[in-house]
Amino acid sequence: MELYTINELSKSYVRWNIRSRKKSEICVLKKLNLTINNNEFICIIGKSGVGKTTLLKMLGGIEKPSAGSILYTDMELYKCPETKMEEYRRKEIGFIFQDYKLLDELTVQENILIPQILDGVKREAAESKMDKITELFGINDKKNFYTYELSGGEKQRAAICRALINNPKVILADEPTGNLDSVNTELILKVLLQIKVELKKTIIMVTHDEEICKYADRVIKMENDQIKEIFCPDFSTNYD
Ligand SMILES: Nc1ncnc2c1ncn2[C@@H]1O[C@H](COP(=O)(O)OP(=O)(O)OP(=O)(O)O)[C@@H](O)[C@H]1O
Ligand SMILES: [Mg+2]
Repeated sequence: MELYTINELSKSYVRWNIRSRKKSEICVLKKLNLTINNNEFICIIGKSGVGKTTLLKMLGGIEKPSAGSILYTDMELYKCPETKMEEYRRKEIGFIFQDYKLLDELTVQENILIPQILDGVKREAAESKMDKITELFGINDKKNFYTYELSGGEKQRAAICRALINNPKVILADEPTGNLDSVNTELILKVLLQIKVELKKTIIMVTHDEEICKYADRVIKMENDQIKEIFCPDFSTNYD
């Protein structure tokens, strides 16, 4: 079943140059067409600056396209009322940001609990979920640390916990293993694949890691404001 239908999607950023006092426009994506199915694991690859994060943000409802449309099941993103968009971001999506976006003035546990608090979940139930998820990702002993007291890999794992705690249908992950060693990369891949299979989640992941791509159902390679090719790795059904 189709989950996302992306139609002629374009994105340009307009920048104002203070020195020359002129506007300049950077075209990042041009007339992209793509369908993403429910329960797929998609990897997005491509050189730095090609527009991978931009595409992920547009799918996540946090970067408005310049033209074209994104249909999520029967809802057209950015055309529906803001309350629907808020609900989409909060309930359907778990976003793992490339730069984590953890709040430095809060502890790890407070950061992870934010989506649960926004969802009105009772403190006790939320904390019990948080305990399980931090245990799973090996940062249980860092719960009371402020995020500036964490290593890069620990921050990355805290950001993953925050994205997953509300049990979203779609996981949008921007280089979620970029700062992890091979042991933790394997752990995160294993957990994500497990929830994909057991809980029927859809995962759209930007990565530079060829090993991870081998597990994807489809790999989308981006180049020059376009999708250059889409291919299916050989052993995408091998999850063991
Ligand atoms: N808010 C913005 N204003 C202006 N230009 C932007 C903005 N955000 C991104 N860009 C530009 O859009 C292009 C694509 O950026 P994007 O972050 O999507 O790349 P990327 O493929 O994720 O790169 P990387 O692999 O380095 O993370 C870049 O050239 C960047 O400078
Ligand atoms: Mg990026």
